[in-house]
Amino acid sequence: MANIVELRPGAVAVIVVDNPPVNALKQAVRAGLRDAFTRARDDAGIHAIVLTAAGRTFMAGADITEFDKPPQPPGLVEVFDLMEASKKPIVAALFGTPLGGGLEVALTCHYRVAAPTTRLGLPEIKLGILPGAGGTQRLPRLIGVDKALPMILSGDPISAQEALANGLVDEIVEGDVTEGAIAFARRLLAEKAPLKRARDMEDKLKPYRDNPKLYDEVVAKSAKRTRGLAAPAAAIECVRWSFEKPFDEAERGVREAFQKLREGDQSKAQRHIFFAEREAAKVPDIPASTKPRDIKRAAVIGAGTMGGGISMCFANAGIPVTIIETSQEALDKGLATIKRNYENTVKRGGLKADEMERRVKLMTGTTDLAAGVREADIVVEAVFEDMGLKKEVFGKLDKLAKPDAVLATNTSYLNVNEIGKATARPPSVLGMHFFSPANVMRLLEIVRGAETAPDVLATAIAVGRKIGKVPAVVGVTHGFVGNRMLHARGIEAERMLLEGALPQDVDGALTEFGFPMGPFGMGDLAGLDVGWRVRKASGAKAEIADALVDAGRYGQKTGKGFYKYEGGSRSPTPDPDVEKLIVEASVRHGVKRRNLDRKEIFERLIFPLINEGARILDEGIAMRPGDIDVIWVYGYGWPVWTGGPMHYADRVGLSYIRDRLAEIAARAGNNPKLEPSPLLMRLADSGGTFAGLKKAA
Ligand SMILES: NC(=O)c1ccc[n+]([C@@H]2O[C@H](COP(=O)([O-])OP(=O)(O)OC[C@H]3O[C@@H](n4cnc5c(N)ncnc54)[C@H](O)[C@@H]3O)[C@@H](O)[C@H]2O)c1
Repeated sequence: MANIVELRPGAVAVIVVDNPPVNALKQAVRAGLRDAFTRARDDAGIHAIVLTAAGRTFMAGADITEFDKPPQPPGLVEVFDLMEASKKPIVAALFGTPLGGGLEVALTCHYRVAAPTTRLGLPEIKLGILPGAGGTQRLPRLIGVDKALPMILSGDPISAQEALANGLVDEIVEGDVTEGAIAFARRLLAEKAPLKRARDMEDKLKPYRDNPKLYDEVVAKSAKRTRGLAAPAAAIECVRWSFEKPFDEAERGVREAFQKLREGDQSKAQRHIFFAEREAAKVPDIPASTKPRDIKRAAVIGAGTMGGGISMCFANAGIPVTIIETSQEALDKGLATIKRNYENTVKRGGLKADEMERRVKLMTGTTDLAAGVREADIVVEAVFEDMGLKKEVFGKLDKLAKPDAVLATNTSYLNVNEIGKATARPPSVLGMHFFSPANVMRLLEIVRGAETAPDVLATAIAVGRKIGKVPAVVGVTHGFVGNRMLHARGIEAERMLLEGALPQDVDGALTEFGFPMGPFGMGDLAGLDVGWRVRKASGAKAEIADALVDAGRYGQKTGKGFYKYEGGSRSPTPDPDVEKLIVEASVRHGVKRRNLDRKEIFERLIFPLINEGARILDEGIAMRPGDIDVIWVYGYGWPVWTGGPMHYADRVGLSYIRDRLAEIAARAGNNPKLEPSPLLMRLADSGGTFAGLKKAA
């Protein structure tokens, strides 16, 4: 490619990186930068340099596809040495999203100017690594340790305005940012301004050099979850070195830490999810050129738990939404809950009051279905989980909605094809399965019906992205991908209680692994009466859960379930009454209770789930193992640093899982759900992996 990095000479020369789409710092860019800075140094006609990029953003990071290959010179450090040795001022002209390695390049410039909408960040932590090219050393020097560490640990970007306030950028320029940077450079020359090298700045480090204990406070404030996580722990150490060690020594340590993380299982898992997330909405038989329908207005049917959250998603993305209920009372209740949700976010500082007003204004409520859906380009149905009711609603929608409206159901389990058949336009119908709380959870399972039209699917994907979700396209099956696998996880949970475990032991095996909660804590949160009602309808039984509901223990909403929740607390406390109830059940079954260790519990929960994932893959309900991983990470709290169930299974080894499953199934009285699935058997027998399956396809 010609001119991937271009040098435009002049008294203020401009270096432009042009590597679409996001100017990632691949080898050719690094080499181009090295050459451009060398030429700028050697050209006596050049007195200052502006560094910028073509397209939609300043360099937005490293080229992650290079991570698994041997490093190719020049490294960024070589480029940075040249930049820092420059006697001519270098000004970064920032716009778009200078992230990761891109921001590290900017930190190495002497000055930074930014367009007002620029967002700057070091997101490496989200890939299980850390800023390996000066970010952990230069950022604390520029903005202070107390501001740098939270940026590095959260990985979240900050606005240009915040960056101006904390000293990360020197000026915000309206209009053309390159022109602004040139003008800035001219002023530097006219004023004979000093070259500000971040590595030489000491004043913001001094308080920590004088009193290293200050850092412990910063760590305590900034670190969220670090237990078992390699990258945050390493990043905390690296930032500590900024005031403990000389720059070059610290950077040597950082590079070692970076390499170790990069080669470690956690970062591999996180990179897998990064790529899988981008793939999960790609559908091989639907060309990328398929044009989504234009969505200007949405309607949501049902203002309950899900409908309210889904409406918020639309309003948050600036899409006007009408919420439809059966009675004014239910509508008022739903709207009040939405308002309260927003108010709480405002109180916590997550939303400005005027922004909240703007969003609330985008919402209208009505009890008139015809009026509510008439203008809508997309309708999401979120009424009770009842096939009869859903069919009735879709039958009406068919007559009332615009001819080209997308008609989506948020059903958790029901057959989307059957729902589609309640209309005369099944190609317009599909599932958009949100997760609770819908305004928070990132996952959106998009359920493709047998007749769903390509552009309807493309629209759902585009809308999903627009409202900030991670769409994963799946096929029709009871519970789709996530809930079907969740069900498989639950099979052994209650049996283990009868054999000798307590709810906290079972949940503990999952929270220890990194899940936010286990099956029993989750049951308490969702309400035990929900599953109880489903079981009653189908004649199924869950002895202990049913007994709890019969005793009025519905979970968090009644303050008692598998656990007790004292004084309105949301954190579970083990309850001796529940233990008694469980032990009595064991006695009734003539079971001699024994101690189940964490490993056994974990495997009996997780291996059946992986097994079900294999069946789902085999049936073509999920297109790729990575899609399943994305679903579990974004919808069910699977710890991202283990990469999701299928990635994790490959790491554990499929033959081990097959053998353990066979044992579990035998002990459970040959429950067919627990028998190793044909795909798992095939892969285990041939020494294959789920990841390999994808490549072979
Ligand atoms: N709660 C969850 O965690 C969750 C997660 C994903 C999907 N879902 C699915 O979402 C759907 C809604 O679940 P929910 O938890 O929000 O239920 P909910 O009981 O909280 O809300 C349902 C709402 O629909 C209203 N409604 C019923 N019939 C209606 C009609 N004909 N027209 C307009 N409104 C009507 C009810 O008044 C009620 O407010 C279900 O299909 C459920 O399976 C639920």
